Amino acid sequence: MRFDGIYEKTIVIVKPDGVQRGLVGEVLKRLEMKGLKLVGMKMAYLNEAKLREHYAHHVEKPFYPGLEAFMKSSPVTIMCLEGKDAAGAVRVIAGVTNAGKADGGTIRGDLAMGMCNVVHCSDSAESARDEIMRFFSEDEIFDYNKTEYLHVYMEDERK
Ligand code: PPS
Repeated sequence: MRFDGIYEKTIVIVKPDGVQRGLVGEVLKRLEMKGLKLVGMKMAYLNEAKLREHYAHHVEKPFYPGLEAFMKSSPVTIMCLEGKDAAGAVRVIAGVTNAGKADGGTIRGDLAMGMCNVVHCSDSAESARDEIMRFFSEDEIFDYNKTEYLHVYMEDERK
């Protein structure tokens, strides 16, 4: 049983605040309950080079030094998840960037107050592809059937 048509991968990083506050399980629980399939997960320290690459569009912004220091302050947990329109679906349940303004019911809205916003999520399927290559090697991404998909997507959504 393969549902190749619905596979889109995306990245979620539980940031240092999420790791330090013991929120990794809560974030993963919400992603799994949504119906996303976990296909990779690891802890890592992100160094300056990796962060400058990851936040390439932001390195010149005034907030970047603080963001880099924050992201280096603890290991992070990096997850790769799969599903139909996965990047968009994750962004909906993550909530807006400034957690203080995020809707209740979202990860940021429920779990954070400001720019220590618990998670980074890929902003599109295209950036997710770059981020998967940035953070995972091929043998760290798992290809397996998730039988639950039969009860997560209608047949016409699996194409
Ligand atoms: S921008 O300027 O609107 O393009 O930036 P934005 O998309 O809102 O945020 C990009 C990432 O930078 C983080 N960010 C900050 N971190 C710390 N302090 C401040 N002031 C700040 N402003 C933005 C924000 O959380 C985004 O990180 P990721 O990891 O992508 O969620």
